[in-house]
Amino acid sequence: MSMPETHIKSPAPLSRRFCVAPMMDWTTRHYRYLARILSRRALLYTEMVTTGALIHGDTARFLQHDPLEYPLALQLGGSDPDELARCAALAEEYGFNEVNLNVGCPSDRVQNNMIGACLMGHPEKVADGVRSMIAATSLPVTVKHRIGIDGRESWEDLCHFMETVAAAGCRTFIVHARIAVLEGLSPKENRDIPPLKYPWVYDLKARYPELEIIINGGIKTFEECHQHLEHTDGVMLGREAYHNPWLLAGVDPELFGEEPSVSSRHDALRAMLPFIEAELERGVYLSHITRHIMGLFHGQPGGRQFRRHISENAHRPGSGIEVVLDALAKVREPLPQPDPA
Ligand SMILES: Cc1cc2nc3c(=O)[nH]c(=O)nc-3n(C[C@H](O)[C@H](O)[C@H](O)COP(=O)(O)O)c2cc1C
Repeated sequence: MSMPETHIKSPAPLSRRFCVAPMMDWTTRHYRYLARILSRRALLYTEMVTTGALIHGDTARFLQHDPLEYPLALQLGGSDPDELARCAALAEEYGFNEVNLNVGCPSDRVQNNMIGACLMGHPEKVADGVRSMIAATSLPVTVKHRIGIDGRESWEDLCHFMETVAAAGCRTFIVHARIAVLEGLSPKENRDIPPLKYPWVYDLKARYPELEIIINGGIKTFEECHQHLEHTDGVMLGREAYHNPWLLAGVDPELFGEEPSVSSRHDALRAMLPFIEAELERGVYLSHITRHIMGLFHGQPGGRQFRRHISENAHRPGSGIEVVLDALAKVREPLPQPDPA
């Protein structure tokens, strides 16, 4: 089998012009590997890992990644300044390029531990955490947050949050442009129901031009990215980048004016085969890897058969690389022309 030459010779410089959002169970290292094959320039984020899990759990397992994933940010959940400092130092030790604090997750489970969006009600606590992270690492320390939470959703509350955290040294804010409703909405509902208020994020950039402001929430196309980039420093896409990963193949040409990293979906998957084989050899189940490539042929002739073949076969005991090759054979290979979605 001929292998396309890997396009990733050395990591691209860190830029937040286009970021792929941290997503629990979705932006695993298997997804990130595919994402990096598709774009050299997108900044990738890990799933959130709590400081407690990192410090008291299997640290090396939580932090494992492939250098090919760089530039890569580690997202932390926590609020204890000492623990955050220890974890920020670990991020640097393990080679990450940025460490990000989650102040946007609305789950009950994390609220009880003062993690995530509930911290928007405690700007000083976030500032303390950020200050001690900055003291513990030379990596950039960034914060991902909402425009508010129920009960603290005024423009003044948001400005107070930004100013308090900026005073602790944070220069980069990733803003999900909707509030989180901590009472009464599930995490999933909290990603759809509170209305998106993009102008609030634009106004933050206008008010604090010295801060780097990345906008997040509901963005799906490059046209939308270009519009947001007129008002902010960068865009972060979550669900669309996961369900339709081929979108990422357009990032380098559309947003960086560079050559596409890969010229076809088939080439992208072929570039991933040696990694899949190495993972299988380490004992990783095929289905744990393939669930993240299901969207690659989204909307393509044969795309449904590709998905079906993988979902019917990848979970069977002993399934190997042939399942992926057989699935790939079900999609017609286009003439070699760049076709970023
Ligand atoms: C399955 C899933 C898991 C998520 N996990 C995290 C997380 O670990 N940390 C975080 O900051 N946001 C998390 N989010 C929120 C996303 O990072 C993002 O803010 C949100 O989906 C809005 O962006 P989008 O409309 O482009 O998807 C998650 C979203 C989804 C769909």
